[in-house]
Amino acid sequence: MNPLNHVAIIMDGNGRWGLKYRNSRNEGHKEGLKTVEIIIKSSIKNKIKFLTLYAFSTENWKRPKKEINYLFKLLENFLSRKLDDIHKQNIRIKVLGYKKFSKKLNFLLNFAEKKTIKNSKLQINLALNYGSKSELINAFKKIKRNKIKINEKNLEKNLQTNNIPDPDILIRTGNTKRLSNFLLWQLAYSEIFFEKKLWPAFTEKDYIKIIKEYKNVKRNFGRI
Ligand code: IPE
Ligand code: IPE
Ligand code: MG
Repeated sequence: MNPLNHVAIIMDGNGRWGLKYRNSRNEGHKEGLKTVEIIIKSSIKNKIKFLTLYAFSTENWKRPKKEINYLFKLLENFLSRKLDDIHKQNIRIKVLGYKKFSKKLNFLLNFAEKKTIKNSKLQINLALNYGSKSELINAFKKIKRNKIKINEKNLEKNLQTNNIPDPDILIRTGNTKRLSNFLLWQLAYSEIFFEKKLWPAFTEKDYIKIIKEYKNVKRNFGRI
């Protein structure tokens, strides 16, 4: 059975769910947050150590202002309400991506990272304003600036995922089969699961099913 350390998720399909069931994309984002809470709980139950959630890509700035503002308000409210609880559960929050949001949200995210830095039950990496291509370019720039040798180890040290093991599993919900600029380097050997359900409709049962399937996959890493 494969050990399971790190699950990464592209939480896609909120907008379509919201339009279909509530006549509003934003309502889909709100509902999607409930799935986030379910998956965090289940990850702890399943002794997963790292959960990386793609919440906002560098390309998502192309969306209407109204939707972007709603998403960040949702996150702001979530953090203000839940941070104490998250901390008590020994969960660490880390942001992947550059914090270029409102003053209040930047502050909250920095505060959450600092407050939970020593927590060790589960690390949640929130990919927010995250783009894998810019992450890679910046890593190469740092290597060049510091005149270090280009090799896998040095590159990984300069990625935002420094000290985080590569994902064992990538899940993308929402019936779309693409990576959308997510962890292009880190996913080189991950097991990929494309899920038809939209993110707000994704359940703990669906999650467990994927975990079980993953545990029985033969991972070769090039061997036979
Ligand atoms: C993913 O859901 C969540 C974010 C990008 C924040 P979408 O908003 O992309 O939902 P669809 O794909 O339009 O249904
Ligand atoms: C990927 O979903 C980003 C997040 C889930 C945050 P998108 O809905 O933005 O991806 P594309 O644009 O359809 O590829
Ligand atoms: Mg989408």
